[in-house]
Amino acid sequence: MTAPKKLFVKTYGCQMNVYDSERMAEALGAEGYEETQDMAEADMILLNTCHIREKAAEKVYSDLGRLKPLHDAKPGLKIGVAGCVAQAEGAEIMARQPMVDLVVGPQTYHRLPQMLRAVERGETALDTDFPEEDKFLHLPKSRKPARGPSAFLTVQEGCDKFCAFCVVPYTRGAEVSRPAERLLREARDLAERGVREVTLLGQNVNAYHGEGPDGEWGLARLIREMAGIDGLERIRFTTSHPNDMDDDLVAAFADCPALMPYLHLPVQSGSDRVLKRMNRGHTAEGYLRLVERLRAARPDLAMSGDFIVGFPEETEADFQATLDLVAAVGYAAAYSFRYSPRPGTPAAERAQVDAAEADERLQRLQALLTAQQRAALDAMVGRETSVLFEKPGRMPGQLSGKSDYLQAVHADAPEALIGRIARVRVVAAAPNSLSAQVI
Ligand code: SAH
Ligand code: SF4
Ligand code: F3S
Repeated sequence: MTAPKKLFVKTYGCQMNVYDSERMAEALGAEGYEETQDMAEADMILLNTCHIREKAAEKVYSDLGRLKPLHDAKPGLKIGVAGCVAQAEGAEIMARQPMVDLVVGPQTYHRLPQMLRAVERGETALDTDFPEEDKFLHLPKSRKPARGPSAFLTVQEGCDKFCAFCVVPYTRGAEVSRPAERLLREARDLAERGVREVTLLGQNVNAYHGEGPDGEWGLARLIREMAGIDGLERIRFTTSHPNDMDDDLVAAFADCPALMPYLHLPVQSGSDRVLKRMNRGHTAEGYLRLVERLRAARPDLAMSGDFIVGFPEETEADFQATLDLVAAVGYAAAYSFRYSPRPGTPAAERAQVDAAEADERLQRLQALLTAQQRAALDAMVGRETSVLFEKPGRMPGQLSGKSDYLQAVHADAPEALIGRIARVRVVAAAPNSLSAQVI
């Protein structure tokens, strides 16, 4: 028997890419490739890329540049580029880096085995279609133990919202929901393989409207059915758009105990003028009312969000409105970015805010968000929460995991608790994590 070939995968970008990387590794696993964490021993290196901001996309080219010596020293080493840069730039990648053998978009990676055969014949392979068929139907099923007790499950792909700054509708294509029964099967399979927590994924996950056995299911119905699966104790979902947060989903935070009290609900800006130019389809007031409804359903709900600073023509007054919105909501976690013009998106053509000005605003926003995150951690001290222990902690005898509110928690606990949910009391807060005692 020949030794298995080794595959090294590097993942950039969002959780959907994490999920896709696992599926690609499984597809190549069926072709005799075994995953390695050591790039030096790889026979194939696959970069699963992100195009969301310029920095993310350029990182791929600098990483490819750094692979060049390894590639030159190891004849037969194959290099593939997958994901959203592959979709957006296609053949240009091979033009810029001729050592790249294979370029595959996010919707065609089920065709990797055929592409691989072409590459092994010494050809290059490129596939950035948006095919009719469902890639998930063509992927092999994994029989390996789950990678950990918390898993991602993509339920919806693509986006039809076309926010003026965003590449996702172009790189991932139109919005599509996967059929409910197949997702339940996948969730049951994960639970049987030791998974205790699933995070349902989609660029626009709360727009989920999949085919169910008795008509179309929304996300709330899917969550409630998944909550009935033996062994599956925690459910989360990300990322949501404010306009798709329907009453049923809000109610699920009140009446579905498996649904964790944490919601990532990006708003991008607190200025109605900017929101309109972003084509977000909601106002700051509408968002605040939604947060109120959510907190009425689940008073301890931890909120998280995304913000873009320095969107074209953003004024100091617009920015101040963002700070006001942040102050009104109180976020437990948040991601904020300086606007990055993306080729092919409408906002890239508009008058840009001065870079130094935008950076200065970003720092002010991040100072406020950091203070809020610290306050949320400090407020946990003395309280009880549940923790799903995922792995050994940094100190001997310690385990680490996540609280109900998705905060990192460390506690002294026996290894046997990995993969289990325990009640803990929080004893101290650090800038990014909590320490706790198992009760
Ligand atoms: N589908 C999700 C998020 C997509 S991308 C949603 O609708 O919320 C993740 C975040 O990246 C976005 O929420 C936004 O804050 C940020 N982002 C997207 N495009 C960007 C751009 N051109 N410049 C800076 N940040 C951007
Ligand atoms: Fe991008 Fe807007 Fe779609 Fe989110 S909703 S993926 S920000 S276009
Ligand atoms: Fe990036 Fe594509 Fe995700 S652009 S954020 S990897 S959908």
